[in-house]
Amino acid sequence: MQIPVARPAIGQDEISAVTAVLESGKLAAGEHVAEFEKLFADYCGTTHAIAVNNGTAALHAALLAADIGHGDEVIVPAFSFIATATAVSMTGAKPVFADVDEQTYNIDPQNVEDCITSKTRAVIGVHLFGQPFDIPGIQNICESHNLVLIEDAAQAHGAMWNGEKTGRFGRFGCFSFYATKNMTTGEGGMVTTSEKVSAERLRLIINHGQSEKYLHTRIGYNYRLTDIGAAIGIIQLKKLEKFNNRRRKNAEYYDTHIRVKGLRTPFVSAGMHHVYHQYVIRLTDEFPMKRADFIEYLKVKGIGTAVHYPLPIHHQPVYAAAGEPDSCPTSTALASSVLSIPVHPLLDQKEIAYICDVINRVK
Ligand SMILES: Cc1ncc(COP(=O)(O)O)c(C=O)c1O
Repeated sequence: MQIPVARPAIGQDEISAVTAVLESGKLAAGEHVAEFEKLFADYCGTTHAIAVNNGTAALHAALLAADIGHGDEVIVPAFSFIATATAVSMTGAKPVFADVDEQTYNIDPQNVEDCITSKTRAVIGVHLFGQPFDIPGIQNICESHNLVLIEDAAQAHGAMWNGEKTGRFGRFGCFSFYATKNMTTGEGGMVTTSEKVSAERLRLIINHGQSEKYLHTRIGYNYRLTDIGAAIGIIQLKKLEKFNNRRRKNAEYYDTHIRVKGLRTPFVSAGMHHVYHQYVIRLTDEFPMKRADFIEYLKVKGIGTAVHYPLPIHHQPVYAAAGEPDSCPTSTALASSVLSIPVHPLLDQKEIAYICDVINRVK
């Protein structure tokens, strides 16, 4: 039996909630979506939350609500999931890649500053692996250059900086509820904002640009979440703190028990409440094994792993500019040296101790 690197925590209460929605006959545009939105906004501390059908749609809708499109540039980290950049391309704007910090793996303010041109309109900061990016550093740049700040919080539900939750630091916070995330609706997403006008725009964008029934005032999309998803989300949100605490406890155990030369455990910056969407270790040159061999070794021992991410976005074929010097060398170096090990809330203490033991046997 393999210990999976990620596993959704679904209980009987989610199953019952879905059954109730199915039996009600009201599968879409019902009361569950509105309730989920209200609970999620309250949880994040924002005035509004707009439910959507995935995290990519959340980013795309937020960018459109900020009026970003052709001729604009949006700065994004080179080390993230591809959707952070493709959402920008979907608007017609150009993603410009900033490198990440060597220690936190999050977008680096100095690199953001270097990427700014007269066309720059926005920055998408990603709270990568569950740790908030440098909030004051990025906020200051956005304020002084009049740029829209969008948080990609797909991996950071409940993460905090200075006691405040992600989703309320930028004009928009964009969440994913994909199956492996800290809370899930199967597929799903949410945009948070505290601006009334932005919330109204978002509601048009995610619902065919429809301002009244069959009256369409702009080009919009069908990005709505189902009531089935929302019913699952309401229950998952209630469990989120418990899930995150389990992830944090698992991470703390790894932090204090993994001891191998050349293996770096995650670095947490001051004031950050990390929710460990992933527990990402880094193998330096001193580590006794090559990453591929280490992955195989763990697999043979029944331990699942994943590489987030094996190729930085600026080197993806869809974006790579051939022959140019590497603009984001830290992202490139991370892509070949990081590894995610299981940290999800369903792990038990025996499994965690076993994983530490197997890793510590590497010589
Ligand atoms: C950082 C980041 N941004 C955006 C997304 C896109 O979310 P979704 O898969 O729900 O479209 C993800 C999800 O994998 C993600 O990890």
